[in-house]
Amino acid sequence: MIVKRSRWEKEESVLLKVAEIYCKIWEEPPWNEYFWTTDRVIQDLHKELMKPNAVLLYALEKEERITGFTWGYEASISDLSDISGAFYSQWKKIVEKKRIFYIDELGVDRKYRQCGYGLGLTQELLKKITSLNIDYATLRTDIKAVSARNLYKKTGFQEINITDAEHSDRTYWLKEL
Ligand SMILES: CC(C)(COP(=O)(O)OP(=O)(O)OC[C@H]1O[C@@H](n2cnc3c(N)ncnc32)[C@H](O)[C@@H]1OP(=O)(O)O)[C@@H](O)C(=O)NCCC(=O)NCCS
Repeated sequence: MIVKRSRWEKEESVLLKVAEIYCKIWEEPPWNEYFWTTDRVIQDLHKELMKPNAVLLYALEKEERITGFTWGYEASISDLSDISGAFYSQWKKIVEKKRIFYIDELGVDRKYRQCGYGLGLTQELLKKITSLNIDYATLRTDIKAVSARNLYKKTGFQEINITDAEHSDRTYWLKEL
């Protein structure tokens, strides 16, 4: 497996492939999001990747086929409060004056699951975040997303007492780096 950091400004074909995989993945349960289009994903990706210390990683099978992706960015307490709908004070209690990175997305093409791509992408992203001297990584996932929950447990994340205001089945996870 090869994991690469995307120089996304110059890699339209990578963004398109990531967006294609993204649209298929999020139609699956428990997400059931049928509204994604590649144009909308690429537009969102452009916005997310302009954020501080943003990183997009993608995994390749044998130097050619993109099998999965993960991305995220450094977030402030206000950003986390906006993303989650939770009170600023809740995040402030956790983060205090430390730096925190929000892992926005992780997905592996269905055909390539359980081959180590998700774990490889997450470990590589954690390495990059650590090299930025960031103190914590956080993310949210669905309580029914067993694969993702197991993967994040395995990489040292712990579920915290914050539930998403908009999606009550999604909880937040934290790892001290
Ligand atoms: C979550 C996801 C990225 C995992 O990717 P993957 O490449 O299949 O995962 P890996 O092969 O690297 O597996 C790593 C660990 O994840 C867990 N895991 C992966 N698939 C699993 C499954 N079907 N059931 C239970 N645990 C699973 C295991 O702990 C596994 O470690 P192990 O092989 O030692 O048991 C993938 O299932 C996916 O894209 N799901 C849909 C999108 C999603 O839920 N994304 C996360 C949103 S936050």
